[in-house]
Amino acid sequence: MWGKDVAFIVLRPQRYTKEFVDASDSLSICVLPESFRKEYSYLGSVSGRDEDKIAKAGLTVVHADEVPYFEEANTVLICRKLYAQPYDPKCFTVDGIDEKWYENDYHTMYICEVEKVLIKK
Ligand SMILES: Cc1cc2nc3c(=O)[nH]c(=O)nc-3n(C[C@H](O)[C@H](O)[C@H](O)COP(=O)(O)O)c2cc1C
Repeated sequence: MWGKDVAFIVLRPQRYTKEFVDASDSLSICVLPESFRKEYSYLGSVSGRDEDKIAKAGLTVVHADEVPYFEEANTVLICRKLYAQPYDPKCFTVDGIDEKWYENDYHTMYICEVEKVLIKK
């Protein structure tokens, strides 16, 4: 898109992660190895506001071009934010999604340029 390699992410307003993403021009998207499946579920069910889940999951934060990522990831996309827009409930093209999935806490969609890809050999 826009002549660039891009990735899309979506974040609900209540996510602690969103505060960091909004406060920075860049972010990383990390793919953990299969052996981290349990930790992945844990990270997706507990907020970093409530506990130090990164340490508890045994993950190590390192940086590439000042962008934080997990050393344990086997693939990392280092990204620059290009666009951010909250979903607009008027834009659903089918019935049911809004009622089923939202209580006025619409995801913000971010389109990010993939500036660097790190792959662990
Ligand atoms: C497999 C999986 C995928 C998830 N994907 C998203 C997502 O794309 N956007 C989002 O806002 N929350 C997503 N979640 C929920 C958050 O990861 C979860 O609410 C987490 O506790 C938020 O932590 P935080 O408050 O530290 O950001 C996902 C959870 C799981 C288990």
